[in-house]
Amino acid sequence: MSEANDGIGFRERDAAIEEIAARLGIRAERGKRFAELTSLRVGGAIDWVISPATEAQAAAVVDELVTAGIGWRALGSGSNVLADDGDHHYVVLSLKELKGNPEFNGELVSVTAGYSLPRLCVDVARHGLSGIEGLGGIPGTVGGALWMNAGAYGHEIGKVTESVRVARLGAVVEIPGTSIQWNYRHTSFSEGELLLGATLRLVPDDPEKIIARMEDAKNQRLATQPHGARSAGCFFKNPPSSKTGTGRIIDEMGMKGTRRGSAVVSPIHANFIVTEGEARAEDALALAEEIRERVKREHGIELEYEVELWRANEAVASEQAETEEANKQEPH
Ligand code: EPU
Repeated sequence: MSEANDGIGFRERDAAIEEIAARLGIRAERGKRFAELTSLRVGGAIDWVISPATEAQAAAVVDELVTAGIGWRALGSGSNVLADDGDHHYVVLSLKELKGNPEFNGELVSVTAGYSLPRLCVDVARHGLSGIEGLGGIPGTVGGALWMNAGAYGHEIGKVTESVRVARLGAVVEIPGTSIQWNYRHTSFSEGELLLGATLRLVPDDPEKIIARMEDAKNQRLATQPHGARSAGCFFKNPPSSKTGTGRIIDEMGMKGTRRGSAVVSPIHANFIVTEGEARAEDALALAEEIRERVKREHGIELEYEVELWRANEAVASEQAETEEANKQEPH
């Protein structure tokens, strides 16, 4: 991409972004890198990071970006993203500032996308509400959890989601949870949809029992997964065609500890890739591909990435919408 956004020059685009952010009173920063914003601590330069502080601001800014044909992607805590080392010429909409306190109303809790998922699990447990205690130690935001239908230890966020707030044409719109397909680590939300928050419907229970179950899940996690290491959680999905999970498959191939530069297959859980030192995304990607090739060769299984791969040279939301629009108009 030599020119930003199908013909708009970078200078013109930058002026437009500065104007939009100033008018809406939203922080817009340059000079950030994915290495600072993701848990794997790898990834290249980002043209702009825009950080709305309210759901209304987020809905408004994304509409303005779309109207101006400026590409964007939403990022929470960056704990499930592997961005490559290139220069990423799009806007990263950081949702980390959308973190107002959850609002409780009986069995319902309303929470914004940037709120910490582990914090929410503690909050709801203290309020005597059960249904997400298995997700307790997942180091992501609520928005990220919704986006990919996060799950662990028998709980999945989609199962308890009453409604989701999304950005539509500059406004905050509430859609029912039943209108969304909640699959294994995948939902029917698509690129270009911005999730702003959700209301969960939980089940009353004794807070002490909920907290005890959360502690159990946490202890299991601590015993079986690396903690304190730079990772993006499980790197691949478990294959639907196999009774054996990906972690065990990679482990049984003897790949724990396998290294490519700064990226290593975790010696604790083989479906985690951890990075060390001055890490490069290239190393993690090369290691991941080596794993996929061996699993394909030795087991005939095509592993699917569970982490999101963000490539600097691929079209993102807005740009995609424009391409689709252009394709529709072309005679076939
Ligand atoms: N195992 C090994 N070697 C390993 C890893 C696992 O032999 O290196 C064995 C375990 O001993 C166990 C079996 O494989 O017998 C399953 O392992 P585990 O309980 O760790 O579950 P998993 O299928 O590997 C899934 C999720 C995790 C989630 C846990 C707990 C996926 C891809 N992974 O892991 O989610 O925390 O269950 O519910 O679905 C994530 O989404 O990022 C993630 C880590």
